[in-house]
Amino acid sequence: MRELFIGLMSGTSLDGVDAVLADFATTPPGVLGHVHHGFAGELRDALLALQQPGANELHRAAVVAQHLARAYAAAVGDLLRHAEVEPAEVLALGVHGQTVRHRPDAGYTIQLNAPATLAELTGIDVVADFRSRDLAAGGQGAPLVPAFHAVLFAAETPRAVINVGGIANLTGLPARGSRQPVIGFDCGPGNVLLDAWAREHLGEPFDRDGRWAAGGCVDEALLQTLLAEPFFSTAPPKSTGRELFDLPWLRTHLARYAPRPPQDVMATLTRLTAACIGSALAQHFPQAHEVIICGGGAYNATLRRMLAEEVAPRPLLSSAALGVAPEQVEALAFAWLARECLARRCGNLPDVTGAEGPRVLGCVYPR
Ligand SMILES: Nc1ncnc2c1ncn2[C@@H]1O[C@H](COP(=O)(O)OP(=O)(O)O)[C@@H](O)[C@H]1O
Ligand SMILES: [Mg+2]
Repeated sequence: MRELFIGLMSGTSLDGVDAVLADFATTPPGVLGHVHHGFAGELRDALLALQQPGANELHRAAVVAQHLARAYAAAVGDLLRHAEVEPAEVLALGVHGQTVRHRPDAGYTIQLNAPATLAELTGIDVVADFRSRDLAAGGQGAPLVPAFHAVLFAAETPRAVINVGGIANLTGLPARGSRQPVIGFDCGPGNVLLDAWAREHLGEPFDRDGRWAAGGCVDEALLQTLLAEPFFSTAPPKSTGRELFDLPWLRTHLARYAPRPPQDVMATLTRLTAACIGSALAQHFPQAHEVIICGGGAYNATLRRMLAEEVAPRPLLSSAALGVAPEQVEALAFAWLARECLARRCGNLPDVTGAEGPRVLGCVYPR
């Protein structure tokens, strides 16, 4: 008997949506299908504009959420067609939504979404709004993936999982059966600065395979300036987003130096991502025997080379080596969170988010 769930993730990178169909009747769950739909330029621009305060933003947010739901529904339609699965066979669909503001300091985090529209368009029970309950319980509402990393990747020896999306986050998984808690927090920028720099100087959405960065020289002085950002030395629980790490942040620091060759800046930013992950690992989970990488950053060869240096002598493995492709892990986590919600099991880890206790996460919109 299959137990099918769908997970939809569209992260800080604003690259589009990953949709995964998985069967949870087996352990680990089997991925039956995956599609990535890139966002249309207009949708991406509208979402990017909403990351900053601006005129008429309530209206713009409400309209864009409806467009987003249509983009999500199109991805689900494709996913089901390829897998030859009917909507009625799917128990629920977990959808993260699109973060436009993450302000746990002010008591809120906003993921644009239109779950009722998505239920209407897909004919599948939709579970959404995973973060607000954790915030209500005093947590950061993020990161939520560490609990699922534990389900998927915990082993006989301690492991670290690094998810390099727009923002990079680290999960520390103690040896299975240990009394130590799972830890997890955002380390800092993942791809967000790399993508912004590639757009500005290459006119490309990202530095494909890290080829441009590979030809640049890391500027040590600039790197040290960037690494002085107080977020990096703040103790967890902590989470971040484009509010902090975006082009204006970079420009403020660059302004202190004579102009640098853009390719060297790219190399330096790539090293910055690797270094903030490396130092997070050294400070908070040095016991890891190996490091697993997932998220789109796993495809940046230069970043992987630098990360391998940062985490050495531990081996750096792609999540693909453990059975789940890097771009599928987070979407799969939201399929799992939907399943936990329906079963009324708690989905957060209070040690990770800082919440007062475990809570059932999500809200159901019946088909
Ligand atoms: N072949 C590649 N080379 C370099 N970077 C890549 C490649 N494929 C994906 N990426 C990076 O991964 C990002 C998407 O990662 P993703 O895990 O989807 O992040 P998010 O969860 O923030 O959406 C892209 O914006 C890009 O920076
Ligand atoms: Mg993405």
